[in-house]
Amino acid sequence: MNNDDNSKASLEQDEALLREALPVEIQGRVRSARLKEGRAIVVAEAGDLGAKAREELEKLIENALSGLTQVDEVRVALIADRRRRMIIAVGSGKGGVGKSTLTTNLAVALARMGRKVGVIDGDIYGPSQARLLATEKAKAKADGDKLIPIESPYGVKMLSMGNLVAQGKALAWRGPMAGKALNQIVDAQWGDTELLLIDLPPGTGDVQISMMADNKPDGAVLVSTPQDLALLDAARAGQLFEDGDVPIIGLVENMSGYACPDCGHISNPFGEGGVEKFASALEIPFLGRIPLTMETRLAGDAGKPPAASDKGADDENAKPFIVIAEALDRWIRNGKV
Ligand SMILES: Nc1ncnc2c1ncn2[C@@H]1O[C@H](COP(=O)(O)OP(=O)(O)OP(=O)(O)O)[C@@H](O)[C@H]1O
Ligand SMILES: [Mg+2]
Repeated sequence: MNNDDNSKASLEQDEALLREALPVEIQGRVRSARLKEGRAIVVAEAGDLGAKAREELEKLIENALSGLTQVDEVRVALIADRRRRMIIAVGSGKGGVGKSTLTTNLAVALARMGRKVGVIDGDIYGPSQARLLATEKAKAKADGDKLIPIESPYGVKMLSMGNLVAQGKALAWRGPMAGKALNQIVDAQWGDTELLLIDLPPGTGDVQISMMADNKPDGAVLVSTPQDLALLDAARAGQLFEDGDVPIIGLVENMSGYACPDCGHISNPFGEGGVEKFASALEIPFLGRIPLTMETRLAGDAGKPPAASDKGADDENAKPFIVIAEALDRWIRNGKV
């Protein structure tokens, strides 16, 4: 081993020593950590943090490292880089097909699989995530110019217009204002959140256009009911993502069969298997189907997502969401469902 190798090895050792002494939740922010004659120099990414959170981060690093015998002095340099998080959009061409319900339940299921997930309610005009995630009473706060996401009771952070302005007010916003609102939410202090799910409004309006320009998702999930009309609309929504080079992760069939609560008979008010055939014709992966059940609707209204059920996949209303969340998890891991 020559001198260069020697010094490289000792630099790496120092870096490992310093990194290990830091709290786990901030390790991902550390760009570099050096030790020179008793002085620890840490460079950390803090572009997503407001003033107070930056101060806290600095203190955390100082306190953690000043306890080490090798360290006499700690210097912290915070840089403005923002950690890149994965963004997945949930869209449809038609309204009312279950985007918001799916977004909530996928987020909860992924969080239960150990992922750090945030939900962005992109529906600036008709937000529903505050109700679905039981955060209706919470008002979003800010740290400097950064919004602070709200912790839902289900291990998922979230931000929605429903937590930002009084009901009804947001409805007046159009065009660029709507896009700006979405940017502010994406740019919030998401902390260690690694994955953001955006619940989009229906169609291809202002929010979608601004999202494609400023916060292009890494992938998109499309939702449709088995009705012909919803399918055609899904194709149109898919075009938006394709034109913007956003990979379509797959298509979900919602409200695909109705289980009668009295006799258990399954009827298919919107037809059967249509979305899967359609997905295969368009060469888009089919992610799964979610039956129409009374429980799913009531759970949405009550802010108790089926995916949060204690019974996990043994709960028949949770299972379809968990199956789709697993496909999404595979896609996140290796780009294939
Ligand atoms: N699988 C399902 N079973 C029963 N009800 C469902 C199911 N999926 C969605 N719903 C209900 O259908 C309604 C519309 O669902 P949701 O709000 O999720 O759709 P959306 O596509 O987000 O609508 P919008 O376009 O208005 O944003 C809600 O009342 C919801 O509870
Ligand atoms: Mg919705």
